[in-house]
Amino acid sequence: MSEPRRLDWDWYDGTIPDNVVYDESAHLATSYIFYLYRSEAPVGVKVGRGACVYMGSLFDVGPRGRITLGDYVMVNGARFTCDSEIEVGDYCLISWNVVFMDTYRMPFDPEGRRREIEQAVSRSPRRLLGDAAARPIRIGANVWIGFDSCVLPGVTIGEGSIVGARSVVAEDVPPYTVVAGNPARVIRHLDRASHRTTDERSQFPI
Ligand SMILES: CC(C)(COP(=O)(O)OP(=O)(O)OC[C@H]1O[C@@H](n2cnc3c(N)ncnc32)[C@H](O)[C@@H]1OP(=O)(O)O)[C@@H](O)C(=O)NCCC(=O)NCCS
Repeated sequence: MSEPRRLDWDWYDGTIPDNVVYDESAHLATSYIFYLYRSEAPVGVKVGRGACVYMGSLFDVGPRGRITLGDYVMVNGARFTCDSEIEVGDYCLISWNVVFMDTYRMPFDPEGRRREIEQAVSRSPRRLLGDAAARPIRIGANVWIGFDSCVLPGVTIGEGSIVGARSVVAEDVPPYTVVAGNPARVIRHLDRASHRTTDERSQFPI
């Protein structure tokens, strides 16, 4: 058993779970982000180089859930509800109060929901764990997701795309596309050429 890992600056008296891997240059604001974490996967959360996970973020990860945050991802207080897989590509910017849910964890029939709510009372911490189908969420590199947005199960957002504030993303978004609204609809397409990666730019200088 390894030594419990604590963050020097932490206000919460918690530890970083053993199956969380983060680069030494990454920043985790507090161990409280793992308050609802239950992943038993070999690696339940992986945080890349230079990535930041700020206050207000929460990794609510079920036993089979896995989350990967790429290099230089900035998470400004987002909630991840994950029972399968959530992948966020390099250089993504995730704004305040964004919710990623790869599962609803809730039956559609009222009786089933009622039972689930009653069972939550005997759990510590009290929470809903309904067993619903989960579908992976994949966010490509360089995506920007505006505040208060929600990404629903099974959605893929292509690289370089932008999601407007307060959007509900229920369907896949192609690369280099701006979507907004509830449900999120395409509002315009971005110029792929002006969004080349650093590697591409050095290969094809302007
Ligand atoms: C998505 C966004 C980038 C689009 O900016 P834009 O390309 O300048 O878009 P426009 O203002 O020209 O709007 C284009 C159309 O989309 C609509 N629209 C823009 N943002 C929208 C949003 N968040 N929700 C719903 N509709 C939106 C506009 O009303 C307009 O509709 P119309 O053509 O019917 O008049 C911007 O509106 C936005 O939401 N930014 C998020 C900011 C944010 O979250 N910042 C946090 C800091 S990390």
